[in-house]
Amino acid sequence: MTQYFSIEGSGGKRTLSGSIAIFGAKNAALKAIAASILYKNPLTLTNVPNIEDVLRITEVLTEMGATIIRDQSMRSFTVDTNTMSTTTITPEIAKRLRASIVLTGPLLARNGHVRFPHPGGCVIGERPIDLFIEGYTKMGATITHDEEGFYDIRSPKDGLHGAEIFFRVASVTGTETFMMAATLAKGTTVIKNAAMEPEIKWLATMLNASGAHIEGAGTPTITIHGGELLAQDKAISKERFHVVPDRIETGSFLVLGALLAKELTLTDVVPEHLESLIELLTYAGVNIEQTANTITVRAPEEGAVFRAVNVRTHEYPGFPTDLQAPLMIFLTQAQGESLVFETIFEGRLNYTEALNRMGANITMMDPHRVLVHGGTSLRGKQLESPDLRAGLAYIIAAAIAEGASEIHNIYFVDRGYEAVEERLRAIGLSIVRHEEK
Ligand code: EPZ
Repeated sequence: MTQYFSIEGSGGKRTLSGSIAIFGAKNAALKAIAASILYKNPLTLTNVPNIEDVLRITEVLTEMGATIIRDQSMRSFTVDTNTMSTTTITPEIAKRLRASIVLTGPLLARNGHVRFPHPGGCVIGERPIDLFIEGYTKMGATITHDEEGFYDIRSPKDGLHGAEIFFRVASVTGTETFMMAATLAKGTTVIKNAAMEPEIKWLATMLNASGAHIEGAGTPTITIHGGELLAQDKAISKERFHVVPDRIETGSFLVLGALLAKELTLTDVVPEHLESLIELLTYAGVNIEQTANTITVRAPEEGAVFRAVNVRTHEYPGFPTDLQAPLMIFLTQAQGESLVFETIFEGRLNYTEALNRMGANITMMDPHRVLVHGGTSLRGKQLESPDLRAGLAYIIAAAIAEGASEIHNIYFVDRGYEAVEERLRAIGLSIVRHEEK
């Protein structure tokens, strides 16, 4: 059954307060689960978020024969892929999960074969996989693309060969996929112009704690010395397998707090992963304090207004494209004009049309740039989540709007934010989940 949220906006009044504990990062957990294919023994992770995308990758691996045990109380997640019986990725589910592309590296490296459909694109962009095809070819694999649109990839008889791969675009899943594939390749692989997102560094730390030899994760050049199947050594400290906190979830709630909280503290976070957002909000006049693992945002002085600020999304450590939509709501409230330049995806600004229907004043300059005329009050509306991050942005917009809103297609929000309405109700937001009639 599809569901929707109803939200009673506060008309801009600061009605929220309290704290939210942040869960493990979707975009780290999905790759760590894929990495379990590289392990000769079961892999146990903790702090895996209970979200739809984790359920989808669980379904894909289970369909393929893996055994997965989730202990909700411990928030632990154990996956044994030694029982897998196929190297074809389940098409129905894979098409709903872009991240399924990261399964191809471990499957090919371990089994010498993988067959998969072109991964699901979504409204934010076409989502090509040319970097993956080129990278596997460089590692000696042969690729056929059959009439059903499936890719069939086979490694050389003696397995994938180490190679030097230069990413003409610093792809996040591309970097993660080849970092994993190279752990079992013959020889050394060097990835140049690698993405540097914190989830990549965390994944490399976990793999190195299991016998991999990866150097340079978190820098533009990553060197991987191929070796044997990995194994989780129970003696190794658990925190290596504790999923890194979700910086995008943290940033999304931080923006909500900046707009509507008297005081909001986010706990179990890594503030340094959000330097670009914290810097930008502070520059705009937001009162933010941090400790080693918390971030607190407080209301500004009575009558203070936020300053407009220009934003350009950029690979990490620049401003993350996944926070562009949540921040857009903040910019509709700041005084003055802000130019937002979405450099990563070509379809990731279309959601702003619905904000204009709520009363925002956002001009699309071209598919990559909008001009926001701030200081506009928003009115509640019926909205449809076009994607995961715009869905969360609509929750923020509905929260500051005058009157009631409904947000439909909230499967998208549930893909990446666990129990979002419970956690937001706990800090004072009037939000209720309903079944579509
Ligand atoms: C990851 O997607 C994230 N998803 C995205 O988060 C995130 O927005 C994106 O990185 C950028 O930070 C996951 O980690 C599951 P890319 P990914 O490859 O890896 C082009 C969310 O909301 N490209 O870094 O698919 C591509 O078109 C999601 O959690 C090629 O040209 O993104 C894009 O313009 C949304 N050829 C650019 O690279 C390729 O073969 C960056 O994309 C691959 C990518």
